[in-house]
Amino acid sequence: MKIWAHRGCSQNYPENTLLAFEKAASLPNLTGIELDIQLTKDRELVVIHDERVDRTTEGIGFVKDYTLSELKKLHIYAGSNPSQEIPAMEEVLDLIEKKLKRGGLKLNIELKNSVYPYPGMEEIIVDMIHKRGLQQAVVYSTFYAKSLEQLYMLDPAAELGILDSKVSDCMYKMRGNCGAAALHPFWRGLDLTAQQLEGYTVRAWMTGHLYPEKPTGTLLNLTELEQKGITDVFLNEPEKYLYD
Ligand code: G3P
Ligand code: CA
Repeated sequence: MKIWAHRGCSQNYPENTLLAFEKAASLPNLTGIELDIQLTKDRELVVIHDERVDRTTEGIGFVKDYTLSELKKLHIYAGSNPSQEIPAMEEVLDLIEKKLKRGGLKLNIELKNSVYPYPGMEEIIVDMIHKRGLQQAVVYSTFYAKSLEQLYMLDPAAELGILDSKVSDCMYKMRGNCGAAALHPFWRGLDLTAQQLEGYTVRAWMTGHLYPEKPTGTLLNLTELEQKGITDVFLNEPEKYLYD
């Protein structure tokens, strides 16, 4: 089973922050890091899950109505961790670029464009990744099949993952030629058999702050998930599952 850090190591550190990504990048045997991008009023890519800043910061309102420098004044508090900022995508790449180029680490960039389509977002991220020569390390994903089509047109060699709750819906979108090579379903949305999924990359995600990882200490049974046809999992607490 391949293990990804969902929004970085987001169980113990504030999600989608440099701190959470730094912790993830230091884990042995981690396949990759997953993060979410939104677009600001001044068309900068920022790493934040929600369309609004309210849940994770003291601010109010939509990311799209803030400039990057306005967003930078907000604070992200979580537990006893030092306060963090909403990172610009460029900052995250600065932090993990070496690992992406030479350390074998992968990066799943989820475009959060199914609520606001953020026209032009695809060009901005593809351009950024190309300028840094990081194409080989990146997997793009989104719930929005039209956006994947756009990404495919911009970079036909890019690895694309289609998101949906049910794996059958991921498959349906994939067969509609959105360019996806991988299925990214909710882990409880496995409504196809392992046999039907054979040969596919199936990266399953959990939601929110979660699930059997918390708070009982119960571990997910990765062998069972593998038997269902899942090849990769996005975990908030990958550190629990990875060893030297
Ligand atoms: O990309 C997988 C997963 O992150 C999708 O759900 O809500 O955590 O972004 P969400
Ligand atoms: Ca995500």
